[in-house]
Amino acid sequence: MCAATPSSAVAGGVAGFSRCISIEEKFDAQNIPPVERAREFCRELEAGNILLFPESPIRIPADERELLLGRKQTSSAYHKNIAYRPKEDRITGLDSSEQAEAAELRRLLKNYSERSVEFLSGLLTPYKGKWKLDYASFRPIEEKGRPARLHARNDLLHFDSFPTRPTNGARILRFFTNINPVQNRVWLTAETFATFGPRFAKKTGVIPPVGSSVTRAARLLASKLGVPGAMKPPYDESMHRCHNAMKEDAAYQESTPKQRWEFPPNSSWMVFTDCVSHAVLEGQYALEQTFLIPQSALVEPGSSPLAILEGVAGRALTI
Ligand code: SIN
Ligand code: FE
Repeated sequence: MCAATPSSAVAGGVAGFSRCISIEEKFDAQNIPPVERAREFCRELEAGNILLFPESPIRIPADERELLLGRKQTSSAYHKNIAYRPKEDRITGLDSSEQAEAAELRRLLKNYSERSVEFLSGLLTPYKGKWKLDYASFRPIEEKGRPARLHARNDLLHFDSFPTRPTNGARILRFFTNINPVQNRVWLTAETFATFGPRFAKKTGVIPPVGSSVTRAARLLASKLGVPGAMKPPYDESMHRCHNAMKEDAAYQESTPKQRWEFPPNSSWMVFTDCVSHAVLEGQYALEQTFLIPQSALVEPGSSPLAILEGVAGRALTI
């Protein structure tokens, strides 16, 4: 069950916090929701709620599952997160000595990516065909006690922001599946961006200054010459500052009211991780596919993190 347990006294359904909406009905290519229902799903997601599918709609055959659980593997391929780039049909995060595993993992992640696209295309019709398909990932490592540098720690509450892949205002929608046969994946969430964001954005230094036209021209030129990060949109700059500041703030991490969610074996869930502050505490073996949803496809663009930050800034934050 996806349940808010009283880890620090905030239950589901409280204003400013996420709700978990459990969807028992079986949706697939043959049974897609009517358009109003699909819009309602999008509206719930955009409001910072979690859609849970207690029985994953993604079919993963036993042989694929067995390989992913890595019972027979000892390679380091099963000791890191593995990213899959659908557009290039390639995986990253493996050494050259791991080519045998690489080919197999690529096939398994390609399957997950394609099945996720098929499922979301039927369920979230307002977004269908409008998204940019981002990376998929395989997360084979136990999250409890997982070592990582501060800004890479996923057991600290944060809103997602990709340091090297600016979205320029597009939303980060992630579709997870817990393939662990026995262990829940455990998350904390806290205030959504609609509540947290405006307060945070008013602090000095969160929204970058406009910059002189000379600076902008120089940055544009650097970007045309292929200098990475030369033209990072102010939106991404702000979201990245927010991500880092949250992880650096030990007092916030300790004292902010939280909700705890347990995603059971063989469940799937989807969430806009740029407006739901989240942390993963426990769990091993998850699959995930990321979709970047453009502003133009949103059902409620006025409540997106971009709109919230631009409301505080009083100017456009995209380029
Ligand atoms: C994260 O996006 O911070 C991690 C979520 C997860 O792996 O469950
Ligand atoms: Fe995250």
